[in-house]
Amino acid sequence: MTLTLTLARPDDWHLHLRDGAMLAAVLPETTRHFARAIVMPNLVPPVITSADAAAYRSRILAALPEGAEFTPLMTLYLTEETDPDDLAAAHAAGLITAVKLYPAGATTNSASGVQNFDKVRPVLERMAEIGCPLCVHGEVTDRAIDIFDREAVFIDRILDPIRRQVPELKVIMEHITTRDGVEYVKANPARLAATITVQHLMLERNDMLVGGMRPHYYCLPILKRREHRDALRAAATSGDARFFLGTDSAPHPTHAKEAECCAAGCFTAPIALSCLAHVFEEENALNKLEGFTSLHGPAFYGLPVNSETLTLTKGAALSYPKSLAAGAHSVTLFDPGTPLHWHVS
Ligand code: DOR
Ligand code: ZN
Repeated sequence: MTLTLTLARPDDWHLHLRDGAMLAAVLPETTRHFARAIVMPNLVPPVITSADAAAYRSRILAALPEGAEFTPLMTLYLTEETDPDDLAAAHAAGLITAVKLYPAGATTNSASGVQNFDKVRPVLERMAEIGCPLCVHGEVTDRAIDIFDREAVFIDRILDPIRRQVPELKVIMEHITTRDGVEYVKANPARLAATITVQHLMLERNDMLVGGMRPHYYCLPILKRREHRDALRAAATSGDARFFLGTDSAPHPTHAKEAECCAAGCFTAPIALSCLAHVFEEENALNKLEGFTSLHGPAFYGLPVNSETLTLTKGAALSYPKSLAAGAHSVTLFDPGTPLHWHVS
């Protein structure tokens, strides 16, 4: 039995760092294990212009723990008013790595997202030209569509048409949650990849809903039924380079999670790697873990693999705090409900 695993240092290809006291509290939880992260732009107000991205990047760098070696890979939040020249200049300067598409109203702080996808076509064409990838929150917002079907319907109604209209655009389907997502990626090998979160690999919707509602398992896209979780597990552990880790670690104050209308997001960063080693071991695929956490993402983004390494060791059940202080609030850590035995050293 393998007791020690050494991996090229992982990256997180989808992360929410927030701002202010929350940023200061959660950033060390990522920099401890990850070398780089694609930083989501859904602040209030969102990161829309290159100036917004530069200012946010400075705030992240200023909040880095002493001695941390971490590169935030910045994104712009796509709106119907996004200026293609500003975007292209930010990309050329290395200030941004990707652009994020939120359908308006799909999730936390997405009110400024896109309603009319035809309006952003010129920006998408420019992105294709300059090689700037599009990260996509893939859910329709049509109230007539059941929340459990929103990803599959998005693929048919929005994503596939965009990819046909702008075939050179590199697209990352973020946090896929369904077999439909997996199959769409597999069927479209060119310029398409997908990230998968920790919670969607570990949990199914029963874990969230049976025997009482567990708000700390509520995220968007919502957890799906077991067959979808199993399709995600198969994709993540297959070694297929189009699937890689994006934790979507999304901290909210505990009072906002344990509320009448609970905020969406799971704060997984502190134990993400222990959870992944647990899943990959269950799937007899520990030899595929490094690809998922450390190799496939850089390959898709055209970045070098990190030269440093990280070691995971199997041992006694991991103990970790229930919550973290963030200014005047606390943030509850994701607890998968099962003991974890993989320690990061
Ligand atoms: O669960 C989620 N939380 N999904 C998202 O798409 C956004 C995120 C957040 O910002 O809290
Ligand atoms: Zn997210």
